[in-house]
Amino acid sequence: MKVLLTGSEGQVGQCLRNIFPSSWRLIAVNHQQLDISNYSAVDDLLSLYQPEFIVNTAAYTAVDNAEVEQELAYNVNVLGSKNLAIASNKYHLRLIHLSTDYVFDGTKNSPYLETDLTNPINVYGQTKRNGELAILETDPSAIIIRTSWLFSEYNNNFVKTMLKSASSKKKLSIVDDQFGKPTYAGDLAKTIVKLLRKNIDGGIYHYCGNEPTTWYLFAKQIFDIALKQGTITEMPKILPIHTKDFGTKALRPLYSVLSTKKIIQYGIKDSDWKKELAICISKIK
Ligand SMILES: NC(=O)c1ccc[n+]([C@@H]2O[C@H](COP(=O)([O-])OP(=O)(O)OC[C@H]3O[C@@H](n4cnc5c(N)ncnc54)[C@H](OP(=O)(O)O)[C@@H]3O)[C@@H](O)[C@H]2O)c1
Repeated sequence: MKVLLTGSEGQVGQCLRNIFPSSWRLIAVNHQQLDISNYSAVDDLLSLYQPEFIVNTAAYTAVDNAEVEQELAYNVNVLGSKNLAIASNKYHLRLIHLSTDYVFDGTKNSPYLETDLTNPINVYGQTKRNGELAILETDPSAIIIRTSWLFSEYNNNFVKTMLKSASSKKKLSIVDDQFGKPTYAGDLAKTIVKLLRKNIDGGIYHYCGNEPTTWYLFAKQIFDIALKQGTITEMPKILPIHTKDFGTKALRPLYSVLSTKKIIQYGIKDSDWKKELAICISKIK
């Protein structure tokens, strides 16, 4: 099997490179090697390598910056996604693409299904939703996996931010009224590899952690584990606060818990995020 991986230096990209089966051929390209918003660059690469799959982990992911860099976020998340779908049609290959829980507005109070109405409340979420639509209109055989609250030992993410701020000795104010499911990027990578082996229908699937939490409780879990492992020597002072008192450029859904009922029918297991968090923190140490 020959697979083209875009965004190979992102969190999911790096996790995928680590676990990719050695008997398959992986062509992993980072942002410098392939800008997905440039159609002719996408087309050139595909005609050169002729892969059977594209796994797109490239995206504009800076949720707050997207409010000011709207054009850049659009070019990557909408045009870039569409370019990959056009090319996957042209070369008769299958596209696996990633999307987000932030396509929802957070007004529901039970886990979001793939069929639930989307209503993004920030620019990032809107560009990711428009990217989903552009892909599905162009290539209905594409598989879109929505995920949430990714963490890993790579790049910037909530776990690494918390561990860095633990040493500052300042009291940390953490939002306690947004609910979501953390997901270990390595588990998502394993799920992508499993899906590459299965011939599942095109469309949207949710994949994420097994238990919902809040950012405050997630932080507490991180510090409990880090203290036990000796990564930190003292429990930082953390204060639960409301979203309205935190003040970020982008609004965030208060509830973005995803249901994974659809994908687990294919033998996929939810990410056991608490178990993976302990392993991830030991790797960061
Ligand atoms: N992180 C989360 O919590 C989260 C939650 C839900 C869904 N998701 C989705 O999951 C996917 C993977 O997220 P992630 O956390 O692995 O992202 P990430 O760590 O931010 O990686 C994204 C990668 O895409 C690259 N990139 C940006 N613009 C590009 C372009 N025009 N062409 C090619 N590559 C480009 C970036 O390179 P540079 O850094 O060099 O620009 C980066 O290496 C994304 O689709 C994201 O929307 C993420």
